[in-house]
Amino acid sequence: QHCFSKADDGFLYCEGLKVQEVLDYVEKRPFYLYSKPQISRNVKAYHEALEGLDYIIGYAIKANNNLKILEHLRQNGCGAVLVSGNELRLALRAGFDPTRCIFNGNGKLLEDLVLAAKAGVFINVDSEFDLENIVTAARIAETKVNVLLRINPDVDPQVHAYVATGNKNSKFGIRNEKLQWFLDEVKAYPTELKLVGVHCHLGSTITKVDIFRDAAELMVKFIDQIRAEGFEIKYLNIGGGLGIDYHHTGAVLPTPMDLINTVRALVVSRDVKLIIEPGRSLIANTCCFVNRVTGVKTNGTKNFVVIDGSMAELIRPSLYGAYQHIELISPPSPSAENSTFDVVGPVCESADFLGKDRDLPTPAKGTGLVVHDAGAYCMSMASTYNLKMRPPEYWVDENNNVAKIRHGEKFEDHLKFFEDL
Ligand code: LLP
Repeated sequence: QHCFSKADDGFLYCEGLKVQEVLDYVEKRPFYLYSKPQISRNVKAYHEALEGLDYIIGYAIKANNNLKILEHLRQNGCGAVLVSGNELRLALRAGFDPTRCIFNGNGKLLEDLVLAAKAGVFINVDSEFDLENIVTAARIAETKVNVLLRINPDVDPQVHAYVATGNKNSKFGIRNEKLQWFLDEVKAYPTELKLVGVHCHLGSTITKVDIFRDAAELMVKFIDQIRAEGFEIKYLNIGGGLGIDYHHTGAVLPTPMDLINTVRALVVSRDVKLIIEPGRSLIANTCCFVNRVTGVKTNGTKNFVVIDGSMAELIRPSLYGAYQHIELISPPSPSAENSTFDVVGPVCESADFLGKDRDLPTPAKGTGLVVHDAGAYCMSMASTYNLKMRPPEYWVDENNNVAKIRHGEKFEDHLKFFEDL
């Protein structure tokens, strides 16, 4: 069951609600529309996949940091994965249990590490200097920090270079030839550090689960090696990264069940608690970015649908050449001809496109148009370029009621940065 689908009447629905009705009801600007039940269903798929194991689902807050969504994920049994002090503050605000939160990053700041140490979250060690900072943070916070070593496994995730993280030349993690140094170092700081696990994260948009098994096989070898040194390793964190069906071709992609099944035996064999860090696969498909068509034009050999949303609100196509499915939310008029269009925004550069070469019925001005799978890394990466203020967010709940879950940014918000200067 998927939350956004076209019904026989030719209209797009979010759960039981016509997206057109939402469009008519909200303020006249682009907005993000989520399905709250789809978020629950996505989490449930992970809980079902993980049944019988001891586990933490650490939702990667960077994918989407809407406070209402975070509270909902927490209520559905998620922990959280954080990459900054502010994400940690937000997680605490959303009520996440700190002992189910993990602080990641290759450049964690000392002040944020102190906050993390005080909160009692797990901290992943990324480098020599990071370890030094964690020791300092533990002393300042007067506490012992539970750490995991982030291993750089050199497994190729076969994804866009910008979202690959587990290759040996990436900036993330510790290479195995340095492992002994880290073990000795942890032993040297028994008051500050407790080594409880190992972590790896291969990359994002991964669509082959074998890759996770390759990594998990390496990771259990590290666990064996580290245990042989007398450490009590309790956690295996295999990161996030499961891809989703952005192309809507009906291709069968691996599910959370497929992912967990490829690593389950390894996890059981080493008697560890499994930590996973999904972002995209929990939230991407729960949302559409909803726009209005401003007009249609032709230049040279190109046809353009110009919409009110842009790369400012949704940058993935511009930044990664990412494909996100686009469709009109209402049935086309009988006279509308199909053409191939670039779907572009009003921002003043040619990188400003949401989709290229899309086959669409020629839309009338004001027609609603959605960019699918916009729940992950869209709003959280939005900017105010060209002073396009960040859009409001809404969700449709179990009773097909729509509610605002984030205010849209206003021009006045921009002026606030200059008050009293
Ligand atoms: N854990 C770590 C350590 C990560 O770096 C990430 C994502 C995740 C978990 C969650 O990965 P996911 O399950 O969402 O794939 N902006 C890019 C994606 C960047 C991913 C960064 N790290 C995009 O729009 O595709």
